[in-house]
Amino acid sequence: MCGIVGYTGRLEAAPLLLDGLRRLEYRGYDSAGVAVLDAGRIEMVKASGSVANLAEKTANGAALTGKCGIAHTRWATHGAPTDTNAHPHLSEHGLFAVVHNGIIENFAALKGELEAEGIVFRSETDTEVVAHLLEKYYDGDLKSAVMRTAARLEGSYVLGVLCAKEPGRLFCVKEAGPLILGVGVGENYFASDVTALVSRTKNVIYMSDGELAELTPEKITVYDRTGRETAKEVSHVVWDVEAAEKGGYEHFMMKEIMEQPRAVKNTVEPRIRGGEIVFEDFGLTAEEIRRFSRVVITACGSAYHAGVVAKYVIESLCRVSVETALASELRYSDPIIDGRTLLIVVSQSGETADTIAAMRECMARGARSLAIVNVVGSTIARLADNVIYTHAGPEIAVATTKGYTTQLAALYLFAVWYADKLGAIDAARRAELIAALYALPSMVQRAIDLNVHVKYLAERWHGHKSLFFIGRNIDYAAAMEGSLKLKEISYIHSEAYAAGELKHGTIALIDEKRLVVALCCQEQLYDKMVSNIQEVKARGAKVLGVALEGNRRIFAEADDVLYVPRGERLFAALPEIVPLQLFAYYIARENGCSIDKPRNLAKSVTVE
Ligand code: F6R
Repeated sequence: MCGIVGYTGRLEAAPLLLDGLRRLEYRGYDSAGVAVLDAGRIEMVKASGSVANLAEKTANGAALTGKCGIAHTRWATHGAPTDTNAHPHLSEHGLFAVVHNGIIENFAALKGELEAEGIVFRSETDTEVVAHLLEKYYDGDLKSAVMRTAARLEGSYVLGVLCAKEPGRLFCVKEAGPLILGVGVGENYFASDVTALVSRTKNVIYMSDGELAELTPEKITVYDRTGRETAKEVSHVVWDVEAAEKGGYEHFMMKEIMEQPRAVKNTVEPRIRGGEIVFEDFGLTAEEIRRFSRVVITACGSAYHAGVVAKYVIESLCRVSVETALASELRYSDPIIDGRTLLIVVSQSGETADTIAAMRECMARGARSLAIVNVVGSTIARLADNVIYTHAGPEIAVATTKGYTTQLAALYLFAVWYADKLGAIDAARRAELIAALYALPSMVQRAIDLNVHVKYLAERWHGHKSLFFIGRNIDYAAAMEGSLKLKEISYIHSEAYAAGELKHGTIALIDEKRLVVALCCQEQLYDKMVSNIQEVKARGAKVLGVALEGNRRIFAEADDVLYVPRGERLFAALPEIVPLQLFAYYIARENGCSIDKPRNLAKSVTVE
């Protein structure tokens, strides 16, 4: 979704801002723009399409002079992705330039009010009202104008503000949506994502809702909603800029698939000490955890799929009832939640608007929350009562891979810890499960090692226009993620179905044109899967079986087979997804799709 960068310092701002925008491209956008302040005048250039278009229009930034500026990548919500609708937006007399992430819900009323005062709007965006309000309220006191403007806005907004009369001074405001300040030497930054900053500084400040910040080259001052100065902690980003670069791979997605053994290892190993699972800084005690009568897991997309896997695992190990709910549904469902509910919130970005809203709703009803999050300091991490960070590192490809597998790893860790605290497993089973957790990185590596075979199968099957992924139990949960990976990056129609459910209607779609990917890694249900494979084969479908290494019987049923390393049954979804990620990747590549930035998608969905 939209990205924001701001810079004030001693260097030319535009090239730095363009570099920041390039690093935000992965989030998804359809136009871009930059504004810099020079000798009391705001100069602005905007371009629909890619940041490369903007770079071309500005000679890589060299065409714009000024040491203070703001820039934006826009993902259209109000108005088409044209040059005019791209951000920044200027106020009536060009005194202010504004960039904005989010949605101003009361913009129509504000626009009506401003138009009645004679202001002529140039764009169709909700953002333009902000620029005009700033100019209306500015009487020489920039902070007051920003606060008065923010007080008029309803909805979600992160704003960057540049004023022609205030050289070297920037303001930014946060009300839902990420905003991070970069602390430099003789220069300071703001951005909506750490990746835009790490090439310049690793010292950052995470802003909270309702706060505003004033940046000059020498100083950053943060204020709370009432305008009082507030002390903020400076955090240090632990990963290097290379982590957010391709490092020789053709696509970020492939690089991130290959990084999974390390990412899973980083998530699991620091939490196992002396044969026990230890969560540092974890507020939940054994007594508290025993008081929960049920668990509700909420998330969106792939993170939701990780939650569906976790339902099977937690219920099996802990014998506690688990409900996995789509956040976009849960938030409006008048959920039955109380103080005896443990709410697990799963999110790579920690900024997904629906997930945040569902979380707030459930916490308001008394649930204790545990967030499984990748991005340190993100909104979900800060809202949650307890956090388990996944240590995936930055995930740039829009389609999640290592984000998802590290979510699974963290959920498995939690499930074993929870079962242990409940006394639901004995010492021998605990030791077995901990050994299985340790084995996960090498299992993922072994799954990756089958890469060449997966590529060959993708080349063979990429022409199919419609696929079904079927499975039972944990395989069904894995089928959901495998199907999503394929459709989002290859644009091929694909559905995930519980294998036993197919015959209740959907089997009408099965014919000789379909490819059915049959996940058969839950061997206690293998014979049932064979029946389902035979049902679809009888109707002419081709079958790609996904089975555990050593299963020879599958050759009698499937046209082709993808093997998955054999390990703990409950943790099978993790190695099992790896060949499906690779399969989706190679099919999308065969079909010439934009793998890292699929059409219509954004990396983190910060609007409803
Ligand atoms: C799919 C994908 C999305 C995200 C979903 C939630 O590949 O990446 O489905 O999983 O938008 O995002 P987070 O985990 O950031 O809350």
